[in-house]
Amino acid sequence: MKFELLHKDPASKARAGKLTTAHGEIETPIFMPVGTVGSVKAVTQEQLREEINAQIILGNTYHLYLRPGLEILRQAGGLHGFNGWERPLLTDSGGYQVFSLANNRKIKEEGCVFQSHIDGSRHLFTPENVMDTQRVIGADIIMAFDECPPYPSEYKYAKQSMELTHRWLDRCIRRFKGTDPIYGYEQALFPIVQGSTYKDLRKISAEVIASKDCLGNAIGGLSVGEPEEDMYEMCELVCDILPTEKPRYLMGVGTPWNILENISLGVDMFDCVMPTRNGRNGMLFTWQGVINIKNKKWATDFTPIDANSPCIATSKYTKAYLRHLFAAGEILGMQLASIHNLAFYLELVKEARKRILEGTFAAWKEGMVKQLRQRL
Ligand code: GUN
Repeated sequence: MKFELLHKDPASKARAGKLTTAHGEIETPIFMPVGTVGSVKAVTQEQLREEINAQIILGNTYHLYLRPGLEILRQAGGLHGFNGWERPLLTDSGGYQVFSLANNRKIKEEGCVFQSHIDGSRHLFTPENVMDTQRVIGADIIMAFDECPPYPSEYKYAKQSMELTHRWLDRCIRRFKGTDPIYGYEQALFPIVQGSTYKDLRKISAEVIASKDCLGNAIGGLSVGEPEEDMYEMCELVCDILPTEKPRYLMGVGTPWNILENISLGVDMFDCVMPTRNGRNGMLFTWQGVINIKNKKWATDFTPIDANSPCIATSKYTKAYLRHLFAAGEILGMQLASIHNLAFYLELVKEARKRILEGTFAAWKEGMVKQLRQRL
């Protein structure tokens, strides 16, 4: 995997780059749609490619390990072979999902014991077996096994948790280096900075993660309920320590304005369930602001969400029709809202990249953040 930094914005810390993987190139900054169980909910692979212009999507170790399971994934030739997505893939390690979804989980030095949220069966995730599982899934970028502490966390807990994440990271790296890719192409391991909202812990964690000299680095433990200002403060502090020449991935973030603010602090990669999850609830993100399409005020608005958009879900179907689909509980409403929101997120990062390359990002971002936050 190769990362080229093409341009730095003179008036902020934003960067434009290009990440090259075995399954193709990714232009950064980028947003990565979340395909938890190997499918981006309500969206086909063709729509992801042609309507949304997704360059890379996510899968989840926790979900894929539980279902369909490693044997089927191995026989399919990994997740690329299984779901037919030919472009780059990234898998999260399962740490975050074990802590948010699984039942009766217990964290030990060895790893995390938990019960499946599907059938109650018992499992143990360790740094070693999570690396092995991600070898079988075969994503281009795989994540270290970490603990994401809840917000708020006591200082003592956040410190112990961060130290455990660092010890787990050393075990991940040892296992990763001691094993070969199964399908013949390179995989890159990204470690994850933790440290909750404590500046001294974030600094230590960023220094430890930077010292591992991995091909890219991630920032975890944010957008977990802390005030937005705290997220930006932690992100800036960490970005200033992580190496300039490696991609930086902020996990699980966020709203369109969060994405622009964090791009301006030096983040290159984002993922979040918000465009799909909120879309399924009738929340639409647009250049003018946020729309609740279930609201009665759209009942007779026969204009599309954005007539100028290249996305059909956005430019052809009217707000009144979409509102009707939601009111009638039609699946198509959720599908169109998901496609629209993802296409918008991809347009947003594409425009940000263009502005960075032109040198006009910082001023554009200021006005745009205000506009994007408006409730229509
Ligand atoms: N997704 C969002 N936040 C996190 C995090 O802190 N760790 C992991 N592994 N995934 C995440």
